Amino acid sequence: MERTLFEKVDHYIAGLTAKENPALLHATATIDGANLFNQSISAVQGKMLQVFLKACNAQRVLELGTFRAYSTIWLAQGLPKNGKLVTIEFDQTHAEVARQNIEHAHLETIVELKVGNALEILATMIQDNEPPFDLFFIDADKPPYLEYFQMALKMSRKGSIIICDNVIRNGKVLDEDSTDEKVRGVQRLNDFLKNCDQVTATILQTVGTKEYDGMLIAVVN
Ligand code: DHB
Ligand code: MG
Repeated sequence: MERTLFEKVDHYIAGLTAKENPALLHATATIDGANLFNQSISAVQGKMLQVFLKACNAQRVLELGTFRAYSTIWLAQGLPKNGKLVTIEFDQTHAEVARQNIEHAHLETIVELKVGNALEILATMIQDNEPPFDLFFIDADKPPYLEYFQMALKMSRKGSIIICDNVIRNGKVLDEDSTDEKVRGVQRLNDFLKNCDQVTATILQTVGTKEYDGMLIAVVN
């Protein structure tokens, strides 16, 4: 029963606060049209990201895991015209479609899409003294989530917000003996929080149109 109720309520919230514009609908069409599992965030989650952007007056955002730019578009549309969003995608096909979707949304002046291994790209950005980002959205491959988080910390300042998708994985994080590499990846990050005094953090359980999951929300101390 819960699943359908959560979905209905998600649509209700979306109808009130998270109506999708044509650019977002187009991005979703490029996922559905390719018969891909839609691992994008929901509309309500996209709006939540915009709420965080406004709350911290964000100008600079770093996203890991562009996929087909659905979340990228929510983020970029929440930034001022002179804002900057760097988004990193490993998969060449997703990146090519994402680039088209970003152009379709007229966001190419705000969004810089980098294609390749995020750990390598982040290491180069840190080496090149990239100025700090105001908000990070980590939604890439799960095994290196802890390393992504730690590298985000290196490119943060006091007050930067770090949000990580999929850290509950249908509750599978409770299984300490899990052999699922995605579960193990997010468990490593979640466990890191236990003794981390660099951030003030919590995890919000997420329900709605997507699988039951959770988002880690951290503010850098
Ligand atoms: C998966 C990845 C995601 O980012 C997501 O939101 C849901 C599922 C996955 O790799 O299984
Ligand atoms: Mg995700």
